[in-house]
Amino acid sequence: MAEERLQKIISSAGITSRRKAEELIVQGRVTVNGKVIRELGTKADPDKDHIKVDGKLLRFKEQKTYILLNKPVKYVTTLSDPEGRPTVIELLRGVKGRVYPVGRLDYDTSGLLLLTNDGGFANMIMHPKFEIQKTYEAKIEGELNDKEIEKLQKGMKLEGRMTAPARIKKLRRTDKNSWLEITIHEGRKRQVRRMFERTGHSVLKLIRTKIAFLDIKGLNTGEYRFLIKAEVDRLTRLTEEGR
Ligand code: URA
Repeated sequence: MAEERLQKIISSAGITSRRKAEELIVQGRVTVNGKVIRELGTKADPDKDHIKVDGKLLRFKEQKTYILLNKPVKYVTTLSDPEGRPTVIELLRGVKGRVYPVGRLDYDTSGLLLLTNDGGFANMIMHPKFEIQKTYEAKIEGELNDKEIEKLQKGMKLEGRMTAPARIKKLRRTDKNSWLEITIHEGRKRQVRRMFERTGHSVLKLIRTKIAFLDIKGLNTGEYRFLIKAEVDRLTRLTEEGR
């Protein structure tokens, strides 16, 4: 947060109105970094300065933010990148405060990504035990035969550990390739790509189209929207039900 007038900071901390805050300042009951401030209009930075009213430090409740982004390819989902590649955070113009990605999408994967500043919520969504379903559309080399589909559906060993069963749906064929839909609830590193590679088919394109009931429809590549409360509540309920 940038510098703001002291009376505004005090009122936004929720302890009193802006007019009352002005009175507190004039009465000498407000300090900034240990110094009494009586002058109205004095500015401070609520992130950096210690602001006290009657000796009590102001605390700001961070508003919880939940964002659904349609990530383009060629963006990383980490907060910074040692190689200097663009990060998804750069797509969130107009979002106040810090949010971070819930889980990850590969640099070359596009589609839905949640971002939030609510750590508890992020952990719930990411943890495989809550079985939040994620659906991807994958363009793969060639076409899967029934045996390969069964292998993906049943689960396979990756790094010595079985993947949970996946749901597979054939979508369409192109000349040499085909599109499939795959739904999983785990989020191991490059899981979908590795699962297909195990069946002998490389993934040429990968798009996450759904996270639980959240759908990519209506959200163009690079666009984002805020979740409404009902959606956050519904996601939370899903994790409580373990499904
Ligand atoms: N699985 C992958 O292989 N990549 C992703 O980005 C997401 C799931």
